[in-house]
Amino acid sequence: MSTPYTTNNAGIPVESDEHSLTVGANGPILLQDHYLIEKMAQFNRERVPERVVHAKGAGAYGFFEVTNDVSQFTKADLFQPGKRTQMLARFSTVAGEQGSPDTWRDPRGFALKFYTELGNYDLVGNNTPIFFVRDTIKFQDFIRSQKRRPDNGLRDNDMQWDFWTLSPESAHMVTWLMGDRGIPKTYRNMNGYGSHTYMWVNGAETKFWIKYHFKTDQGIDFLTQEEADELAGSEPDLHRKDLWQAIESGNAPSWTLYVQVMPFEDAADYRFNPFDLTKVWPHGDYPLIEVGRMTLDRNPEDFFVHIEQAAFEPSNMVPGVGPSPDKMLLGRLFSYPDTHRYRIGPNYAQLPPNRPHVPVHSYAKDGPMRYEPNRVGAVYAPNSKGGPAAVPGAFGEIAGWEAAGDMVREAYTLHREDDDFGQPGTMVRQVLDDAARTRLVNNVSGHLKNGVSRPVLERAVQYWRNIDKETGDRIATAVNGI
Ligand code: NDP
Ligand code: HEM
Repeated sequence: MSTPYTTNNAGIPVESDEHSLTVGANGPILLQDHYLIEKMAQFNRERVPERVVHAKGAGAYGFFEVTNDVSQFTKADLFQPGKRTQMLARFSTVAGEQGSPDTWRDPRGFALKFYTELGNYDLVGNNTPIFFVRDTIKFQDFIRSQKRRPDNGLRDNDMQWDFWTLSPESAHMVTWLMGDRGIPKTYRNMNGYGSHTYMWVNGAETKFWIKYHFKTDQGIDFLTQEEADELAGSEPDLHRKDLWQAIESGNAPSWTLYVQVMPFEDAADYRFNPFDLTKVWPHGDYPLIEVGRMTLDRNPEDFFVHIEQAAFEPSNMVPGVGPSPDKMLLGRLFSYPDTHRYRIGPNYAQLPPNRPHVPVHSYAKDGPMRYEPNRVGAVYAPNSKGGPAAVPGAFGEIAGWEAAGDMVREAYTLHREDDDFGQPGTMVRQVLDDAARTRLVNNVSGHLKNGVSRPVLERAVQYWRNIDKETGDRIATAVNGI
């Protein structure tokens, strides 16, 4: 094949890749060198803002196939027996910037987009079944405490522990983060969780509460703090590289999806508030039911186009799936499309990773960078010009719940066993073994010894004693006997 010739963005042949147009070899550069001007101008506009959180990540395309019949719980087309659905996944760290090392201790994002027959279904989870806070109004404060200080631009452990210890609902997630799973060995070696409780609705319009668990088929594996610290210097893009190379070499990673299913009526007096994002549903109460497998087998052709411009939004839910009263989830339904309009632009949904694999008959029109013509034949509804008409009952019964009461600013009402320290205590005492508990103590005390001020340190030790007395005492000793 002959080498293609260079063109400018308008497809016109370019005369030189190396020399700008000047008056004589040593002369001034001429403004009529349109190609030079285009190159400089394009370069100056190459970046879109990085994601405000989850800026560093990696992703790939693949497919989801159903392996078990769960049609008794949901009518969503992607979960019907025999179904295979194309999808996109993006994994990420949370607090670091675009160029930050992959091996920093942090939760990992686990964002999925399924191109279903009834539009895109986005499931935007993490590698943790829980989160640090339980009300959307605290999310921005939480993130600020994890990012950089306004004065010196440095990250600050004091700020992190200050927020965590004043927000005891964080205890479960902090225990998770400081344990082995806080630094996965690769993206392929971690689980993904929908984290929130979602609703499923079946063909008979019966509603269920469910939780998603994507278990890695590669096996869980982690890096120790020491390994991660070293790799942060020598292999800062380790996880991005690992995912890319595995897929390039034909070693497509996969995850098996399970759900926990709670009958709709159980929620009212389940022992934990089932919508509280700082809690799990113990497997003994609601066992895992297999659904299917997701496999990632195709690397993006262009990282920026397919991964940087990927826009996931928890509000993209298809018939058969719905939200729950989780106050974090309800806030997220607004936040993501809003940030995409700012970060990418109002027509982000037309870009390759985001456009649905079904025809779009939306009345949306115009706006920056729009390239799909408005094809609905009218720009308003209702109309008598042959424009599309809404489909009453497309979702069947609305995936909702009854709500009534005065307007208040209050915490969730407590269920029988709700507290902030019970479930993390169970994790420390019953899930971790001795070696994992020792690594937890070392990880926490190492972090606390790095710039945490006295009053915050005292609160941190008490926080850990509340989770587990023995672990708290060991941490106290390790940070010089508080
Ligand atoms: P189980 O013994 O049935 O489940 C414990 C789960 O803990 C395992 O299935 C595994 O989750 C997870 N796990 C194992 N090692 C670690 C680790 N180092 N860090 C974080 N998680 C780990 O007990 P329960 O369901 O009764 O839960 C007991 C405690 O386990 C909970 O309080 C919670 O802290 C934790 N947990 C519970 C989960 C749930 O959804 N029920 C999920 C994860 C943790 P997995 O199988 O997903 O890999
Ligand atoms: C990314 C907001 C909680 C998972 C983002 C982004 C915002 C945001 C603004 C950047 C999106 C972008 O620019 O593309 C919020 C708010 C939350 C919240 C307001 C709480 C109220 C959570 C929780 C999870 C989560 C609980 C997991 C269960 C993710 C993931 C991404 C992300 C995976 C990256 C998506 C991608 O790969 O593009 N979040 N978030 N977030 N969030 Fe959240």
